[in-house]
Amino acid sequence: MDDETDPLKPRRPGSTDPVGIAARRGIRSYVLRAGRMTDLQRSSFETLSARWCVPFRPGESFAAESTFGRTAPLVVEIGFGMGVATAQIAAALPDRNFLGIEVHTPGVGKLLSEIESRGLSNLRILHHDAVEFLESCVPSRSVSGFHIFFPDPWPKKRHHKRRLIQRPLTDLLASRLEPGGYLYFVTDWEEYALWARDVLDSTPGLANRFPQGWADRTPWRPVTKFERRALTEGRAIRELWFEKA
Ligand SMILES: C[S@@+](CC[C@H](N)C(=O)[O-])C[C@H]1O[C@@H](n2cnc3c(N)ncnc32)[C@H](O)[C@@H]1O
Repeated sequence: MDDETDPLKPRRPGSTDPVGIAARRGIRSYVLRAGRMTDLQRSSFETLSARWCVPFRPGESFAAESTFGRTAPLVVEIGFGMGVATAQIAAALPDRNFLGIEVHTPGVGKLLSEIESRGLSNLRILHHDAVEFLESCVPSRSVSGFHIFFPDPWPKKRHHKRRLIQRPLTDLLASRLEPGGYLYFVTDWEEYALWARDVLDSTPGLANRFPQGWADRTPWRPVTKFERRALTEGRAIRELWFEKA
């Protein structure tokens, strides 16, 4: 996508175009809490960040090839939490490059220890706000897949504006996907699932690959502790798989 058609290009004053993401700054999809770190998380964070974390450099293009030392489809996960699914998926799909993004420091420490102990050379971490990074550093049509698993549902109406899946954030994701690229979203929050399906349906350039609505579970997405609890408590797991035309 060139600058003229980029939906995220800053708008002229008085323009009737949809508002750009920059105007939303200050509304975050997370709240930073001072989480306690285990000794392993802290030592992994201190000793392994330099090796496996990519720096956030506003305005500078993320150079996937030199970061991973090879050319391979790039999958970006937004909000990996403790990285349990992230590590297992990276191990199961060694022919893809994975970039996991998370703001929560204990989770970054935990996933760093997994990268090291499992020898996951196809996984890197960005410890920063995913929206800012995607907007400022990720070229258009450069991502082969986005994973968003069990994002914060922000259930109260006054907090809906914090949801990751909403426009124009989904326009940003669509613009960064390469043709044929996918967005894989999973939630146990029924109302967010319906909301996300509507939002993605209305995002230009994205199409639902499952015309009946919900997607089938992929064989490579592991069942996490969180998901098992949701199932035990009787909540359905909803999956969405949209592709870039
Ligand atoms: C409910 S947790 C889910 C974690 C994990 N995906 C899972 O399935 O267990 C959502 C995570 O997304 C992270 N997050 C939310 N918005 C983010 C953003 N804009 N950039 C990076 N991380 C974000 C939060 O810090 C939180 O750890």
